[in-house]
Amino acid sequence: MYLGVNVDHVATVRQARGTTYPSPVEAACLSADAGAHGITVHLREDRRHIQDQDVWDMRRNQPLPLNLEMGNHAEIVEIALQVKPDEVCLVPEKREELTTEGGLDVLGNYPALEQSCQRFADAGIAVSLFIDPDPAQVEAAKQLKVPMIELHTGTFCECEGASRQACLTQLIAAAEQAHAAGIQVNAGHGLNLENLRDLFPVPHLHTLNIGHSLVARALMVGMEAAVKEMLDIMQEYS
Ligand code: PXP
Repeated sequence: MYLGVNVDHVATVRQARGTTYPSPVEAACLSADAGAHGITVHLREDRRHIQDQDVWDMRRNQPLPLNLEMGNHAEIVEIALQVKPDEVCLVPEKREELTTEGGLDVLGNYPALEQSCQRFADAGIAVSLFIDPDPAQVEAAKQLKVPMIELHTGTFCECEGASRQACLTQLIAAAEQAHAAGIQVNAGHGLNLENLRDLFPVPHLHTLNIGHSLVARALMVGMEAAVKEMLDIMQEYS
């Protein structure tokens, strides 16, 4: 299982004061030193954390594969096609949200997604779709012929008791459905040191993308230690 480190919130701290530090690229390099496998940044339309220059710097100045998370908006699509990250992960994006709130409605946005997926495929950029563990959305992702999906774990992480078990059951079914269709299964959102193991009954997990809790932990123990703690737990996945 691979760890993708989302460094958006390193930029959040920087943007809070308009300074040049802390550097998301430095955080990415430290994550690489600690054994992380990839870096994610989300270039939001409102540029609340990651800026355009960060995406270019991330492409050029850190060693790990770059996953650009983004809404399917014309301006951002053009930037992605210029920067050429290794992967893009298409997410729904609302200006008023604190963070990505739910999975992409692939069915409801099929023609626009089809167009962007084709442009990315033509440019040699692998496309992932961030979706809820819903059989209809997995099926739509299959129709779009994307090589991978990212299952939204936010609801699972937030709920407790019987509803948590129901969320887990949905994640397991979605992972099995996607894997059977030949789609790589990634997952992310809301994962932290406390809830990570709870996700492990889900089969076929390839990459976990983790941001907020990891950057928060790095404030206490440093970026390398925070990445290593996460990787240590991930090693228990079989
Ligand atoms: N994956 C996707 C698609 C996301 O939108 C986010 C949040 O930016 C993450 C993973 C990481 O979530 P978190 O910051 O809660 O770890």
